[in-house]
Amino acid sequence: MNMSDVHPIEALSSLEREALEAISHAPDLRSLEEARIAYLGRKDGRISLIVRGVGALPPEERPAVGQAANRVKATVTEALEARERALAGPAGAEAEDLTLPARAPWMGALHPITQVVDEIWGIFRDLGFTRARGPEADTEWYNFEALNTPLDHPAADEQDTLYLEGGRALLRSHTSPVQMRTMEKHPPPIRIIAPGWVYRRDTYDATHTPAFLQIEGLVVDEGVTFVDFKATLAEFARRFWGPGTQVRFRPSFFPFTEPSAEVDVKRLIRRSDGTTFETDWIEIMGAGMVDPNVLDNAGYDSERYTGFAFGMGPGRIALLKYGVDDLRTFFENDIRFLAQFSL
Ligand code: DAH
Repeated sequence: MNMSDVHPIEALSSLEREALEAISHAPDLRSLEEARIAYLGRKDGRISLIVRGVGALPPEERPAVGQAANRVKATVTEALEARERALAGPAGAEAEDLTLPARAPWMGALHPITQVVDEIWGIFRDLGFTRARGPEADTEWYNFEALNTPLDHPAADEQDTLYLEGGRALLRSHTSPVQMRTMEKHPPPIRIIAPGWVYRRDTYDATHTPAFLQIEGLVVDEGVTFVDFKATLAEFARRFWGPGTQVRFRPSFFPFTEPSAEVDVKRLIRRSDGTTFETDWIEIMGAGMVDPNVLDNAGYDSERYTGFAFGMGPGRIALLKYGVDDLRTFFENDIRFLAQFSL
């Protein structure tokens, strides 16, 4: 439409409508500034041009057009300011203070010990293991006897084990009963990882809590050898602690394995300047070849099947991994401590 064909007052009111429309839809401060220049720009703004043309009108028309032009200018200016405030955010100009520290939204995170459990489980999953679980309240049979541990063994003593009322059931003192519960339900081959809570009458100190997590592992099949046992656990240790990790199998004793071992690792740490150093040997788990008596108790043919088992404490491993010196800090739920481990 050619503006010179319409009366300036009509031209003003259609420009007003157009300008208000453009302003209310401006998606950001930049397009808002473009709209200001298009309508109110000193040089070529379409409203400004009409204002400037007032002087050229016949004298009797000047007051009405002048008044209309001022009103439209004021309305459009006000709309520009309102939209600018809205786009700048609720606090207006202050929201643009770039010196304010950023507010990090709290997302929640996995507990550091849960992260260690997930990492360990993830490594074994990649090696072909599946995840298993068993009850936290169990019987003496599953917790001790089926695992070749006679009830007069010190571990079965009430000093160490939390018995439930009546004494027939107990809170499992390790995750090893999941071995038997799994073998009862499934024929070989077995390749499982069973993380879970265990309970002991322990003091609450820097390295003990009466409830703690363990991760049990069990492999049973035809032809499983001591070489499979060592290679699997060494592979796990190198995936968890790094490729330069050395692994040592120290002779030990557990009633449910024969031979038994304690597994130690020596880590290779790389400093930021590229040089390396070796840590001391640190013990990471108990393990061994499954005792044939345990296989017999599960109803497996111990002449045909062999296997290995292992058990470790992810809480202890978390202490070593993160260089924390008091296990209790993991359980005091101080968000300032725990937040350091959020990914
Ligand atoms: N159950 C043992 C404990 O609580 C840990 C353990 C040792 C588990 C040797 C095993 C194993 O499966 O083979 O101390």
